Amino acid sequence: MPAMSRLCRILFLIYWSSNAEALDGSDLVEASLNAEENCDATASPWTSWLQRTAKRKSQSGESATQSAHINASSDFYCDSHTGGSCRFWSCSESRGPTMCRSNECRCKPGYCARDGACTKRTAHIADTCNRQTGGSCSVFGCYSYRGPVQCADGACVCKAGYCTADDGTCHQPKPPISARVAPVHFDAPQFPGPQATIRTGVCFSGGGSRALSFTLGVLRALESLKLIPHVDAISSVSGGTWASAIYMFAKDVSVEELLGEDTHPNVLTMAKLREVPARLGDVATTNIASKISSMMFVSKGSTNPHDMWIKLYAEAVLKPFGLANRSQYMAANEESLQSILERNPGLTREQFMVPNPLRPKTFIMGGTMLAPLGLSATEDSAVSLQMSPDFTGSPFYPKDKLVTYGGGDGREFLVGGGFVESFAFGGSAPLSADGQRGGGDVQMEAPPTAFSLADAIGISSAAFASVLLSVPIAAKLFGYQAEEFLPVKDVWPVTSNKFPNWRASLKYQLGDGAEVDNTGMMALLQRKVPKIVAVFGTNRPLAEDMDFCLDLSQIDLRGKATNDLLDKFGVTKEGVGEYLVYNQVFHLDDLHKLLCEFQKKLRAGDPLVVQQRLEVLENEKWGIKGNWHVNMIFVYLHRSKRFDVNLPPETLQEVEKGGSGGFGNWPHFKTSHQNSGSFTSYTPAQVNLLAGFGEYMVRFNANMFEQFFQR
Ligand SMILES: *[C@@H]1O[C@H](CO)[C@@H](O)[C@H](O)[C@H]1NC(C)=O
Ligand SMILES: *[C@@H]1O[C@H](CO)[C@@H](O)[C@H](O)[C@H]1NC(C)=O
Repeated sequence: MPAMSRLCRILFLIYWSSNAEALDGSDLVEASLNAEENCDATASPWTSWLQRTAKRKSQSGESATQSAHINASSDFYCDSHTGGSCRFWSCSESRGPTMCRSNECRCKPGYCARDGACTKRTAHIADTCNRQTGGSCSVFGCYSYRGPVQCADGACVCKAGYCTADDGTCHQPKPPISARVAPVHFDAPQFPGPQATIRTGVCFSGGGSRALSFTLGVLRALESLKLIPHVDAISSVSGGTWASAIYMFAKDVSVEELLGEDTHPNVLTMAKLREVPARLGDVATTNIASKISSMMFVSKGSTNPHDMWIKLYAEAVLKPFGLANRSQYMAANEESLQSILERNPGLTREQFMVPNPLRPKTFIMGGTMLAPLGLSATEDSAVSLQMSPDFTGSPFYPKDKLVTYGGGDGREFLVGGGFVESFAFGGSAPLSADGQRGGGDVQMEAPPTAFSLADAIGISSAAFASVLLSVPIAAKLFGYQAEEFLPVKDVWPVTSNKFPNWRASLKYQLGDGAEVDNTGMMALLQRKVPKIVAVFGTNRPLAEDMDFCLDLSQIDLRGKATNDLLDKFGVTKEGVGEYLVYNQVFHLDDLHKLLCEFQKKLRAGDPLVVQQRLEVLENEKWGIKGNWHVNMIFVYLHRSKRFDVNLPPETLQEVEKGGSGGFGNWPHFKTSHQNSGSFTSYTPAQVNLLAGFGEYMVRFNANMFEQFFQR
């Protein structure tokens, strides 16, 4: 955003003169892993249910600081404070596994202090109330976004009766809620509700506004061909999620108003293309660059960095449809909403959003569970986070094993294993070990803030959060780091016979779905969906400099098509920030056949739409059992001569101008900065042309789609 730099400098000065605090990441890490600070919960109205009977421990002479401790021998809490000081001497070995923090001897993660010594954390020890926000007030005050905080010894600490949530903000503990926990692992591979019986699915890849515009066109054609009633599920990632979330949830707007009227390439004159796109496409014309700068600079301190991206995109994408309210939970439909309200009389109907009942029954928004705060994800440990109106979580344990994260001292973690009802996602682990294994009426602490549609699309497209750092002085001078912009939520695994122990929730960094699968296909294959349309709104054209119909067995295909496709056939390399090496689900031979089919289409000038029946291979990381066949239609974004020659001459001329015309990079518009001065936004003409192309690709193959969806 070169145009912004001068503005940034000015804003920077404003910022500097009103500076508040510096975030200390390492403290947050500690807090999340260890949950070591304990709150004086007597001010909480929920004292009784939480049995917060513990008293403030009197200051022992040994202790160097005066943070509020609760009774460490309570059965309910895990307190890491041994009471020992390491101000002058190191911690005594008699205290067990300790570490020195702020001159205090504290138990290492996984241990709790009992009578001054650290013992292994056991089941039924709930998360403690952590009061350390991780913020410092040694020089300036605490950020206002933290809520009720006080400055104690240079640290921003939640006031009594409040505990920190996800991300360094303070909330009052909530009363327990009753939610369904649905195990999905090798012992119980059945998915919950309608997710168990999906017969047809359409998945929309990521790719920012390009993916959104392309998805819009494909949806328009599927609606127009009356095929949507035959689609059981939509699975989407990132930009594909922006489009499908609106499509799934928008009400009080006709399909035509939402997706636009049918087009044929020959009506796409420049005048027609420059018209305001249909409402779903119009969101891709919103330039969020100015919103970014105001959020990052002017109101720094009132917006939590972990929340910035979610807030930004809720405003850009969801607000025009009245779907941006972050106090509203999601529910799948009226029936499940009824059930939730019956179990939880404290919640009201108004607090929920349900999808439009005319849309497919299942909607899966793909995100990634990277690692607990302070640790780093690896190929083995990064798993998908699947967010649906009914359930949210990660099915199966990767390779049916515990995982270790980078920087974690080899400690093992359980991740995945199933779902919790989405309205309960982001809260603490169930109060009982039995409940954590699954059930219809599991008691747990409510999430500190609602898990809303805005959170889900923000997580699904979180890769863009790091682009907030493309204002380099922001990163350097404000001390922001990319991971600070990643959304963070409390997540706990669903346990099983194999892994029976109660496990606390941990604060996980959540990433863009693209980090583990940029197509949404893997989620459908996990559900054993026999018919899948995979829409690739990719930025990488199929290589045209080679003959894919020759013997490809000796050829390195990396880079010859999008990684989002190649990884499913085992052609990948380790990439920074992407965890795709365990994504193989199809035979490499089948890739050779598919690429040859694509090439035949390409040479005929036809859009790249190919149907294939593929054998599904076992995939341990994703918990996919092999030995069955899936019927696929691949829709691959790549220029088509047949579409071009059908365009009005003036439009084709504009396309042919390349970078000097209005359609530079056609049809692979850039994911960010396609137009100078804009971040993710496109011109109306760009949105309309790409949507028209997506629509054309499906309509040109109308027979294939109609036969495919026939039951
Ligand atoms: C902690 O709780 C136990 C049992 O409830 C009690 O016996 C003990 O005296 C308490 N200790 C402190 C320091 O309050
Ligand atoms: C958001 O939803 C909550 C809960 O239903 C409601 O109280 C609040 O007024 C809503 N906010 C807006 C801006 O609509």
